[in-house]
Formats: sequence, structure tokens, C-alpha cells
Amino acid sequence: MSEFQFLDGQLHAEDVPASKIAEEYGTPTFIYSKAAIVTAYENFQAAFSEHDHQICYAVKANSNLGILSLLASMGSGFDIVSGGELKRVIEAGGDAEKVVFSGAGKLAWEIELALEQGISCFNLESDSELNLVNKIALKLGKVAAISVRVNPDVDAKTHPYTATGLKENKFGVSSRDAVTIYQRAQQLPNVEIKGIDCHIGSQITEISPLVDSLVLLLELVDELEAIGISLSHIDLGGGIGIKYQDEEPIDIDLYASAIQQTLGNRSLKLFFEPGRYIIGNAGILLSRIVTIKQNENKKFAVVDAAMNDLIRPALYQSWQRIENIKQSSAPRDSYDVVGPICESADFLGKNRELSLCEGDLIAVFSSGAYGFAMSSNYNSRNRAAELLVSGKSIHCIRQRESFADQIRLESIPGND
Ligand code: LLP
Repeated sequence: MSEFQFLDGQLHAEDVPASKIAEEYGTPTFIYSKAAIVTAYENFQAAFSEHDHQICYAVKANSNLGILSLLASMGSGFDIVSGGELKRVIEAGGDAEKVVFSGAGKLAWEIELALEQGISCFNLESDSELNLVNKIALKLGKVAAISVRVNPDVDAKTHPYTATGLKENKFGVSSRDAVTIYQRAQQLPNVEIKGIDCHIGSQITEISPLVDSLVLLLELVDELEAIGISLSHIDLGGGIGIKYQDEEPIDIDLYASAIQQTLGNRSLKLFFEPGRYIIGNAGILLSRIVTIKQNENKKFAVVDAAMNDLIRPALYQSWQRIENIKQSSAPRDSYDVVGPICESADFLGKNRELSLCEGDLIAVFSSGAYGFAMSSNYNSRNRAAELLVSGKSIHCIRQRESFADQIRLESIPGND
């Protein structure tokens, strides 16, 4: 059984034909393969099996409870960036003691909730955040485990919107400021210094920026040690890229050996926060062609999925593979595959060579990460359904929204 493959000319999600899913659940629908998630997680685990480590799956990539619960059952920890994500982790049966809390603007109630739940570590982003965490911990009679997010000023060579480790980015603090924050933290009664962290960007396809960041972090670890501040872990963030088109993604075993070689014989525990690596290629977006039209020299296939379902092409000009789920008899032509939304940015793919007929089903591959998680109700569209397929079984892990769901929190004021 493989994750998504063509069998007898038809795309299958594990052992289920995609056409059967469309019949039963409609479109647009996100389909995730359990086997693909398990394999990606296990590959990451295996690569670091010789070193004490903890994977903290980045919840933001796909926060569906069904996905979180699957990862929790495999022993995954979680990287959260909001109180909402923490509540999801708990709801899904995740272990708060394996949670790290990232993010540039943690709110008081979120810090309070995280302390009450006993999370593993706060990845601090500023001096004032240190004060806030200490103050809230004092109020609750707790001690907060902390790490400082360092911005290593390393170019992750990714899209400008997904680069986070350059000094012009809002994330983390400089090495200099980090030392000052650690020294201050040492004086505070309700925080305990645990680690150091960084996250330099997403969809990274080269190992060197990741190793360069580690080198810088290790220099800081030594500097801190020399002034009596000992750390027990390094959190290297997420960012490992996947194959969307013709990228050569990082080989996880080579990454692991480069990291372990750089670490040498230090006994620091490693934390990782992968999101896309775990779930990106484990999901597709299934959609139906509504109409085919031609304007001037351009052919458009208007499908029933749109930028509200999958915003990555519009926002990051990202390329995701699009294919018919069945061989079509239509002649091949070049199409822009677009949604019905009233924006020219509403496209899923441009200039794609496809054989398309109205009513056909297509799959947009590599949609598992930052697909549904970034979806919205723009143009008053109901958000898509999400399914988790395992072998022959289909689990609906999120029903398609209804119009009633969409307007549930709205009201019409009376005349006054
Ligand atoms: N840790 C931190 C602190 C992060 O900010 C992120 C992602 C991750 C881990 C997980 O990164 P990953 O392993 O998934 O690359 N919406 C964009 C990606 C934004 C990533 C934001 N931070 C996209 O669709 O490409």
C-alpha cells in the first residue's frame, strides 16, 4: 500500500479510489494518508535515533484534532504558537509536558494556560516576554522552563515570507541580546533556564544554513557555560523542505549526521519542530472542474477549490502539482487552474499541461501542510471537508462546513 498512487489509471489515497471519495464526500476535500504521516514521522525519528531528542510537531502546519491525535499516539510532542493550539493538543490527547511554546507575542492568558498545563518550555522572543512569563509564573506559584530564541542572521534561502532567521525579521533576538536575557533570567525566581532555540525559515532545501545556525547556537552555549549558565537542550526549529516540483529536498539522514557531527560529544538534548516535513506530502486537495473557458489566448479551468481553501499559490507563488485523478480523453492543453473567487490571485496553478473536461476531478498534491490550516470563508464559501485515509478506511476528521456553521456567530441588530 502506498500513500497516493495511480492504480489501474486512477488515483488512490492508500487503498481508496479518489473518485469514490468525491462521490461520498463531495469536493473540495482534503485527503490525508495516515501511512504517509506515520512514515514521515518515523523517518525523522529514526534519523536521530542515536541522539536524545524530541520531535515537537508544528501544530500550525495542520492542526486538525485527528492529525494531532495520530501524532500524539506515536509519542510526538508539539510546537504551539497560541493558546488555541495548546487547547487543540490537549483535546487531541497530546502530552503538555512535550509542548514547546513559540511565537513572537504570547498573551498573558496563553502563558497562564501553558503554565497550568505544565508545558516543557517557553521559547522566549524578547526581554519583556521574559518579564511577563516570570510575573505570571510567580502569580501561579510555578517555575517556567525557558529557552531564548536566537535570530542567527542566517539566510535560509527560501521565499521572503517564510524566511525568519535574518536580522531584519521580527523573530528572535540577536546573540548579544540573548546573553543579556539569560543573565537576567538567572536572577529571576520563577523561571528556569533550560535551552536555546532558533527557527530560520520554512521549506529549506539546503543543510548548510541549518548547520550554520547550530554552529552559532553552540558558540553561545559555550559563552553561557563560561559565565555559569548551563543549558540542557537545543531546539533547532522546523523548516525542513519537501518536494513540490523539482526541488531536491534535504535527506533527513544526511541532515541528522551533519547536525550530530556539529554537536560532537555534547550531551545536549535536541528538539525539532517539523511541520511541513511530517504532513506536507501526506495530503492532497481534491477538486472538481466547474467550467472550462477561454479568454483571448488563455484557457482557464475553473474548479470548485479556491484560494480560500489553498492560499499558498496566491500568497507565496508556490507551485503544487495538479493532475487529473483519471486518464481523460480530452486533448492536452495549457490551462490556468483557477477558483471561482473574485480575485485574479485566485489560482491553484498556472500554465499547466492537462487534459481536462468539465466535471472531471483533479488533485492538487502536497496540500497537507498550510492548506486547510490557512483556509478561510472568503467569498462566504464553506470550508472544505478533511478526511484521513488508512488502508481501505476513510475517517472524516472534519465535516464540510455548512452555511449555518458559517453564520453561527453573527447576528443582525434590531432597529433602535
Ligand atoms: N517552528 C516555528 C517557530 C515556526 O515558525 C514554524 C513555521 C515551524 C516550526 C514549522 O516549520 P515547517 O517545518 O513547517 O517548515 N505558510 C507557509 C509556511 C509558514 C511557516 C511558519 N512557521 C507556507 O505555506 O509555506
